[in-house]
Amino acid sequence: MGLGFTEYRERDALRENCTAAKLVADMVSTSYGPAGMYKILLRDDGDFNVTKNVEMLSKDVASVHPVVRLLVETGKSVKSSTGDGFISTIILAGQLIGRAWKLIQEGIHPEVISRGYHIASRMASQTISRYSIAISHRDRHVLDAVVKTLLNTKLSHSLSDKLAPMLVEALLGTAQNFGDGVRVDGELVVIEGRRGGSLSDTELIDGVVLHKRGVDRLMPRRIENARIALVYGGFSIERPDMFTKVVLSKTFGISDFYRARQEFFDDVVEPILKLGVNVVICGENIDEMLRRLLARHNVLFVRNVSKENMKVIANAVGAVQVLNPRELSEEKLGRCKLVEERILAALDRWIFFEGCPNERVKSILVRGPTDKVVEEVKRVLRDCLKTVEVLLNSKAAAVPGGGAIEIRTAETLRNWAYSLGGKEQYAVLAFAEALEQLPAQLAKNVGVDHLDVLAELRRMNLDGFFGLDGLRGVIVNPFDSGILDPAFVKKECIAAATEVASLVIRVDHTFIFPFKSVKKSPIPEPVKAVRRTSQILKNIRMRRT
Ligand SMILES: Nc1ncnc2c1ncn2[C@@H]1O[C@H](COP(=O)(O)OP(=O)(O)OP(=O)(O)O)[C@@H](O)[C@H]1O
Ligand SMILES: [Mg+2]
Repeated sequence: MGLGFTEYRERDALRENCTAAKLVADMVSTSYGPAGMYKILLRDDGDFNVTKNVEMLSKDVASVHPVVRLLVETGKSVKSSTGDGFISTIILAGQLIGRAWKLIQEGIHPEVISRGYHIASRMASQTISRYSIAISHRDRHVLDAVVKTLLNTKLSHSLSDKLAPMLVEALLGTAQNFGDGVRVDGELVVIEGRRGGSLSDTELIDGVVLHKRGVDRLMPRRIENARIALVYGGFSIERPDMFTKVVLSKTFGISDFYRARQEFFDDVVEPILKLGVNVVICGENIDEMLRRLLARHNVLFVRNVSKENMKVIANAVGAVQVLNPRELSEEKLGRCKLVEERILAALDRWIFFEGCPNERVKSILVRGPTDKVVEEVKRVLRDCLKTVEVLLNSKAAAVPGGGAIEIRTAETLRNWAYSLGGKEQYAVLAFAEALEQLPAQLAKNVGVDHLDVLAELRRMNLDGFFGLDGLRGVIVNPFDSGILDPAFVKKECIAAATEVASLVIRVDHTFIFPFKSVKKSPIPEPVKAVRRTSQILKNIRMRRT
């Protein structure tokens, strides 16, 4: 009698899960490092992305194999906490799972392997700490190198050269003394941008930029010593949702109607004029008549500004946001030296707020040939900003990149493993080999022989630090070449990959429950994926026999 579900047991379940882990690791690994490949993500509705930010896949993996989802979610969580390390986590997890499978076949219990992996992970983290160099916000040279290393895996070399110092300068501009140290605040760096111009037109602005224009063409374009009001709404007469009819029964009803409307306008405009406001930033729309009135009084009015932008402007100009103009008062107004509407490439109008009292607010205005390109650069800059913010505010240390730290850590693990008794030793040795696959992947992606590179890196790292230049495919000293990685990202990747690998190798059953529904429903994708992988495995086995 059946139990009402299908099951894959022990070896079958594990083999299947290892295959799924290998599939996802292989898929993302070709995008690893500066010579990594792009992926096209095409959706049903025709929308697409061309990107090296493979974590964007995570949005679309809801319907694939559970192990693929586990790995992708783990990489995503590393990326969301550190801003980096998505691909490294998945490659390493895939390697750890694959190597565990071999050890299991040799008769080592998954629990022992998991224990060995955890020991190795802790040892690796200590090794990384030992070889990392502390960074302070004054080390501009080192900071620029770290940011360039982060950027050049996603953007071109020349663009990374230009954007790295810009990003560092923006972030350092937000620095504030905090206790006995300095804290930077990534939220004060606004990354804006629209299609138009070329990527090299991207610029850093002291203050805020807004992709908006004055609501009326008669409004002023340049306002010095601006007095700024930030108002959510209240500039238009609310209309009822339903269709309504106004019936005027007396002849002077029309004049009453217009008088009431004029009174409303006066009521709105009066506080603005009385306080000498010359810029109004509003979260909603404005009545046609009112905008002409404000234009006549030389007030620049910007409508439909998002809540996020209102918050940034309020922060920069020192204003307090109010619900309607009647709540305005002198102390709620913001100020800045210059508010100007400028026309940039592609006849795009932008409003610049410069000379703001809060000098810590910075903006990076990204320009580029298409919206997709601009969005991609903005995404990369935001991730990088997060990494450098964490780096500067807490665990400020860098390690040599280009695979140097992985090779040195693997070497340390290997030497240390021999002092370990028990079968855990095999797991530690497997962990070391898995780590080395990261530089090996850099080599494969740049088109050089990874076995030669690994052998050479192992030999050279016995004495000093050497890594692979991921663009030229030659071995270099990463300190001299400015290839430096944040140490905390490496540690997070290793810890997360160890956790997910330990979880996957300790799964000994996959139960597939029938889909309970009165109507006949399609088989859910995760179930199909499990079946598909087992079919592939069956075919492979049949071919072998
Ligand atoms: N110019 C370079 N030469 C050699 N290696 C480099 C260079 N620039 C970066 N790297 C290496 O590339 C690796 C990071 O690659 P990548 O950014 O593609 O992966 P990730 O950080 O794991 O994933 P993601 O950035 O998508 O979250 C790091 O180990 C870093 O040392
Ligand atoms: Mg990266």
